[in-house]
Amino acid sequence: MDLEKLYLTRQSTREYDPAKKVTDEDLLEICRLAKLAPSAVNSQPYKLHIITGEKAPAFAKNVQVLGSNKWTSDCPAFIAIEEGKPAVLERLGQRLVKTEFVPIDIGIVSAYIVLAAENMGIQTCILGMRDEKGISEFLGLKEKSKFPLVIALGYAKEGYPVREKKRRDFGENVTITK
Ligand SMILES: Cc1cc2nc3c(=O)[nH]c(=O)nc-3n(C[C@H](O)[C@H](O)[C@H](O)COP(=O)(O)O)c2cc1C
Repeated sequence: MDLEKLYLTRQSTREYDPAKKVTDEDLLEICRLAKLAPSAVNSQPYKLHIITGEKAPAFAKNVQVLGSNKWTSDCPAFIAIEEGKPAVLERLGQRLVKTEFVPIDIGIVSAYIVLAAENMGIQTCILGMRDEKGISEFLGLKEKSKFPLVIALGYAKEGYPVREKKRRDFGENVTITK
């Protein structure tokens, strides 16, 4: 897809057709493409957990925190992003410039996931409302891990509109210095 069209079409989709499943092949392809994302010192400090099939409706409970994201009950798939340990060089860099690079890396890989999916005709929504303990337990992880973000994936319900993008005025976000 043309890049601008892709950026305009990708949106947080909150109504899914529960009858339309995303294939395992497509979910794996999205992750393969997302793994091309840049990260600080190429540390790639995350693990992408795909939850799909019969497990998806039960998983949805973990992103319905405080009454939020109820619509995820209809989502046929999720990718839960588990925070990993930064590589030694990334840790060193973080300390030197007093910046946590790991959450930034996770934000970037999330963007790669949602754009790769949209380019394949699959809709998404990035979810920050999530229960990290619940997700760890759901995945049967021995230690409680951090899951900064979860991505909901599926096919939008028929007739779901592509909304016009609402963004701050250009000058509020962009400056140019020469
Ligand atoms: C870090 C992050 C957390 C988000 N968490 C949620 C969430 O829990 N539930 C939800 O419906 N949308 C969530 N969103 C989606 C934003 O609300 C959405 O990206 C924003 O309003 C812009 O709309 P658009 O994605 O349709 O362009 C999140 C987005 C980001 C980047």
